[in-house]
Amino acid sequence: MALLSSSPYKVREFDLHGLSGISDKTLEIHFGLYAGYVKNTNLLTEQLITLSENGKFGTLEYSEATRRLPFEYNGMVLHELYFGNMQKDGGGAEINSSSDLGRAIGESFGDIDVWKKDFAAISAMRGVGWVVLYEDPATGKLSNQWITLHQDGNIAGFRPLLVMDVWEHAFLLDYKPADRPRYVEAFLNHLNLKEVESRLHGNAQRSVGA
Ligand SMILES: [Fe+2]
Repeated sequence: MALLSSSPYKVREFDLHGLSGISDKTLEIHFGLYAGYVKNTNLLTEQLITLSENGKFGTLEYSEATRRLPFEYNGMVLHELYFGNMQKDGGGAEINSSSDLGRAIGESFGDIDVWKKDFAAISAMRGVGWVVLYEDPATGKLSNQWITLHQDGNIAGFRPLLVMDVWEHAFLLDYKPADRPRYVEAFLNHLNLKEVESRLHGNAQRSVGA
């Protein structure tokens, strides 16, 4: 995959200090990792532009940069969606069943508790990756999916609504490995439901470098 336009992405700021259950130290490290994905996305993009300008299509360097770019790019986007669907004040996992999001979840899962059990069960799977509540734009149905690393498991065309990082760096400073469910609970207690709902039906535009 080559991105042949030069538009460097910028690191976005997220004001999430003082969360309960996810420490400032964890977030500080996490923001640093996220910045690395932005930097590497820009580097690989620039590298591919230079290689193509020099006609070096199909070289080993070109192929390697092409293979690495989706990992870095998805790492950038998934972190922006993850930090963006958290908030430090208020929030929480209580989804109103008569809200747009609540109705969409109800239509797909039967009720919100079933959705939450499914989401938590996927988050407890072994391995590192992401749990994402997606919307299928073709049917409007929602489903929870597991993404390994950043790139394996994204469903083509599905819209990510709610994104949770379950790489170990997201919680190991605060919890033991076996206590991952406690991190999931802390995350769900800081949901920015307004933001999640704004992503329904493709309404939200992801702002890059805003
Ligand atoms: Fe992460």
